[in-house]
Amino acid sequence: MRFEYQSGFGNEFATEAVAGALPVGRNSPQKAPLGLYAEQLSGTAFTVPRSGNKRTWTYRIRPSVIHKPFVPFAPAGKRAGELFRSSPFDEAITAPNQLRWNPLPIPEEPTDFVEGITTIAGNGDLFSQAGIAVHIYRCNRGMGNRYFYNADGEMLIVPEMGRIGILTELGAIQAGPGEVAVVPRGVRFKVELADGQARGYICENYGAQFRLPDLGPIGANGLANPRDFETPVAWFEDKDEPCEIVQKFGGNLWSCETDHSPLDVVAWHGNYAPYRYDLRRFNTIGSISFDHPDPSIFTVLTSPSGDAGVANCDFVIFPDRWLVGEDTFRPPWYHRNTMSEYMGLIYGQYDAKEEGFVPGGGSLHNQMSAHGPDLDAFEKASNAELKPQKLAGTMAFMFESRYIIRPTLFAMECPELQPDYYAVWQGLKKNFED
Ligand SMILES: [Fe+2]
Repeated sequence: MRFEYQSGFGNEFATEAVAGALPVGRNSPQKAPLGLYAEQLSGTAFTVPRSGNKRTWTYRIRPSVIHKPFVPFAPAGKRAGELFRSSPFDEAITAPNQLRWNPLPIPEEPTDFVEGITTIAGNGDLFSQAGIAVHIYRCNRGMGNRYFYNADGEMLIVPEMGRIGILTELGAIQAGPGEVAVVPRGVRFKVELADGQARGYICENYGAQFRLPDLGPIGANGLANPRDFETPVAWFEDKDEPCEIVQKFGGNLWSCETDHSPLDVVAWHGNYAPYRYDLRRFNTIGSISFDHPDPSIFTVLTSPSGDAGVANCDFVIFPDRWLVGEDTFRPPWYHRNTMSEYMGLIYGQYDAKEEGFVPGGGSLHNQMSAHGPDLDAFEKASNAELKPQKLAGTMAFMFESRYIIRPTLFAMECPELQPDYYAVWQGLKKNFED
C-alpha cells in the first residue's frame, strides 16, 4: 500500500498505479488498456453545470457489478440501541435542552470501523437528500476482507484517537487526530488501524457535497487553501479471496459476498474522489481590533442547502489562534442561534468550557437553545488582563446545520450523557447595578 497524494480541491486528477493503464484521448475505448474494464462513477447528475459536475472514470480489474445479492447486515457485539442509524430521527422526542456527552469507550470485543459506528444524532431526510447524521466510530481491529460504501451520503471522518488508513478504490489515505478525510458517496473503502485502536466523529452528509466556502471580502486566499487538500494516487489490491461488501443504502445496512477485492482500480481520472486535509494548515482569520467575528470565519467546508448562505452543514473548526482584541470578551459570546450546533473536541481544551467537554465527547445546542461560556470561563475572561494571548494545542470542531439535530434514543439513554450539564450556567450572577 502507498499513501501518496495529489494536491488540490476537486481537481481533474489523472493517476495510474501501472504505467499505461490510463487510456489516452478517450474514456471508454473499445478495449481498455491492460485488459482492464472501464467504469464511470457519477457523483452528480449527468447534467449538473460544469462548475459543479463530478464524475470519475475508473479502469479496474473487474467491473463493480460482480457480487452476490445484498442481504440485511447486523453488526454483532453492541450495546442495545448502539447502532448505525439513519434518518428519519424520530425515535425519541427532541427536547430543547442543552446536551453534553462524555466519550464513548473503546469496545472490549473485536470491533471494526463499520461495526463500531454508533449514531448520536441527525436530521433531515436521506430520501430527499437533505440533512446529516452525527456518528462516533470506535474500533480495535482492521476490516480485513470486509469493504464498505455509503450510498446514502458522503462521510466526513474526524479522527480523535489513533491513525486510520482509509483504503479506497481510488487510493489510500492516512488520517489521524488533527486531520480529516472525506469519502464521497458510493466510493468503496475499508479502514485499517495504525495504532491498534481508533475513535472519532463522522458527519454523514445526505445533502449537497462539501465544498470550500466562498471568501467574499477576504479575497482570493485564506481559511482552507485548495492546494492543502490531498487526494490519493491510484492504488489497488489484486486479491482473489472471499470478500464481503457492506453498504448503507436507504437508511439500512446491507451485506453481500464477492470473490475478490473491490479495491481493484488500477488507474482513474476525474474529479470525484476522496481527500484528506490537515486542519493545522487552516489559515485562521480573526479580529485585530476588537470583538471577534462570527464563527463562520472558521468554516473549513460547507454543504449548501439551496438557500444562499444557509448551510445544510458547515464544518467549522476552532484551532490554535492568537487573541488580541482590545476591550473584548474573548471567549465565544453568549448565543442563541437559528442554526443547530453539534460540537466535538479533537484535542486540548475549548476556551468556553475548560472542564466537562473533553476529547471524544460532544455537545449539542439546537436551534434557539441558549449557550455560552460557563461560570468559570465568564469570570476569568471578564477579569483577565487583555494581553495578546495564544490559544495553543487545541482543536474543537462544529457541525452546524439549518435543521434541528435530533439525538437518537441511544444518545439520550446512554450513561455518557451528562445529566447536570445545565448546572454549568446556574452560578452566573446578577451583576446589574441601576
Ligand atoms: Fe453557538
